[in-house]
Amino acid sequence: MNSRIYTALFAVSILVVSGSKAQQLPLNGTNQEAENMATSLKSFAPGTIWPDNNGVHINAHGGGILLHGKKYYWYGEHKIEGDAGNKAEVGVHCYSSSDLYNWKDEGIALRVSDDTASDIRKGCILERPKVVYNPHTKKYVMWFHLELFGKGYKAARTGLAVADKPAGPFTFVKSYRPNAGMIPFSPDVSGKNEQVNCRIPTNKSDSFFCRDLPGGQMARDMTVFVDDDGKAYHVFASEENHTLHIAELTNDFMGHTGKFIRVYIGHQTEAPAVFKKDGKYFMIGSGCTGWKPNAARWFSSNSIWGPWTYEGNPCLGPDAGLTYGGQSTYVLPVAGKKDAFIFMADKWVPNNAIDGRYLWLPIIFKNNKPEINWQDKWDLSVFN
Ligand code: GAL
Repeated sequence: MNSRIYTALFAVSILVVSGSKAQQLPLNGTNQEAENMATSLKSFAPGTIWPDNNGVHINAHGGGILLHGKKYYWYGEHKIEGDAGNKAEVGVHCYSSSDLYNWKDEGIALRVSDDTASDIRKGCILERPKVVYNPHTKKYVMWFHLELFGKGYKAARTGLAVADKPAGPFTFVKSYRPNAGMIPFSPDVSGKNEQVNCRIPTNKSDSFFCRDLPGGQMARDMTVFVDDDGKAYHVFASEENHTLHIAELTNDFMGHTGKFIRVYIGHQTEAPAVFKKDGKYFMIGSGCTGWKPNAARWFSSNSIWGPWTYEGNPCLGPDAGLTYGGQSTYVLPVAGKKDAFIFMADKWVPNNAIDGRYLWLPIIFKNNKPEINWQDKWDLSVFN
């Protein structure tokens, strides 16, 4: 089905499906009405259809945001209908916005390839793309989780693409498992917990780490975080998803330096999202239950190199134990507002991937601890 027809049908039919009262598009509405609403959104309505400037539900799952100049760019997995949508049939979709409510379709920023020899061959799995801008090279750098065509989730690689303009087109550069042959960095403060002795691995996670030492560490769910000093870090689920790694990127953001730490060993943290407030580092992630939701978890640290402290679930209220049905993907600092952060999560719909929803919720700090509460509808004035 072409996307226009799909949109029209979507607008009139999707509301019936979920029975939720918070849907935005009118049941008997025309596509024109949907488009009018789409261009004048003034609030977030988590979990509902989120129309772009063409009235089409935004298609940018597992996404991340780049603020460049005064514009935000949202990159995410473009999904198609059905469970086929869990594979990358199209690529990474990009949208732009100046107010965070209304998003303009900027098209496909990175396209998967028809070349059967390409690492990003159509039908591969390409997840959680994150784009950062490198001021030295003036390039837009995209990292993502890549699984090679036909190999399920076995490859566990990270992929890299680069562009001269924020909306692309991005060119695929390489994919690999990072930090081959490297042992974790050990700052004095981090204690011994994150260390690993490959002569006698003492737990499952250490065994996976040691197994992968020669060829590089597994890299699945991920984010990229750029610190105030301009250094960038790739944060990813490694060691068969048992342990997170935080790894430094080179100055051009195009490779790994080999310096990294392991965080919360053996506790299966996925979907990491890192942010910084008043010099302190925060991370929100999830447990490891595939497309099914679980409880979010947060961590804090005074240094990117740890020690990172596990702090429990930042979500409160009904359904907090399941992150309101979603899974973290990014934490967005709102430009021009102090201490304003948006928790971005995906509500996956694996049997019809294109229908995945976005849960954007405000993070409110109480006694320096992030709290997230469900909102049917909210706007940026909550941060005033
Ligand atoms: C989730 C992960 C998603 C995707 C999914 C596949 O745990 O966060 O990005 O990989 O598993 O089952």
